[in-house]
Amino acid sequence: MTSTAIATARPTLLEGKALSQEVESISFRFGDLISNRRTFLTAAWTLRRQGIICLREAAPADLIASINSDVGQLLEEIESGEHARLASLAYLNLPDQRVLKGYNQFRDADRSVINYRVKRPDGRSGSDAGMIDIFHPERLSDSLNRNIQACLQESVIQRLLLLSSFNRMRVKCRNLYLNRGVQDTRSYHCDGRSLKFKSFVYLSDVQSLADGPYCFVPRSQRRRRLWWRNARFNKQNGLGPFEFSQLQGAEAIALFAKAGDMVLSSQRGAHCGHPQHPQARRAVLVNMFQR
Ligand SMILES: [Fe+2]
Repeated sequence: MTSTAIATARPTLLEGKALSQEVESISFRFGDLISNRRTFLTAAWTLRRQGIICLREAAPADLIASINSDVGQLLEEIESGEHARLASLAYLNLPDQRVLKGYNQFRDADRSVINYRVKRPDGRSGSDAGMIDIFHPERLSDSLNRNIQACLQESVIQRLLLLSSFNRMRVKCRNLYLNRGVQDTRSYHCDGRSLKFKSFVYLSDVQSLADGPYCFVPRSQRRRRLWWRNARFNKQNGLGPFEFSQLQGAEAIALFAKAGDMVLSSQRGAHCGHPQHPQARRAVLVNMFQR
């Protein structure tokens, strides 16, 4: 370590039996959630305590297949370089041709926004290179609209969040993340200190660290002093206020899941996307809920 390096500390990623036990304790079958009141209450309470739950088989296979087929065509179109059709129905934010800037503009846009962050051969690619982040993917076509709405199960999730947080949460933004060999992911952080949840519906199986699973430190969303300790360190070392740079001694879980499973997470908690293998592919539908 050089004298200027900042001593950031990552949590321990649980593995093997410890990981499967921890994940099992926060997992529920989506079918049970909607048919059994007690499961619904337990899931809401678990989300409150742990900051994260996994809802297995939230979206049926045919729906996922149909979305993936539409997304595959979209990717081909993006990569073909013939963008006339896409440019007429979405904002195309390509590496050397940015039409919109910043999260708020993307979120408030009246059409889909396709953000393409490519890898640059000179290494100056910046964060999340290799990722295509599409805002409002449901506005790209009628079939995507139908299938994405069906996948996200918004009214069920809103009822669950109401019970879990005692707050009426609104859908603020839908995204489609297409990660292709994303290696420089942001380390553990929270998305601010206000109440915010995200649901992630996996469109592809994420079964190993190489696939780039979502990682989370259970219960960290409730640990105020942990956040303050991190914020103090960050301030002294010129890091952003929401980085979880000091997680020594904490344990994190990697959310391995099958296509169709949904992860529901409190974004106040410490989380990150695990770096992928250069050849790995991951597709996830994301929904952001805020008051
Ligand atoms: Fe985040």
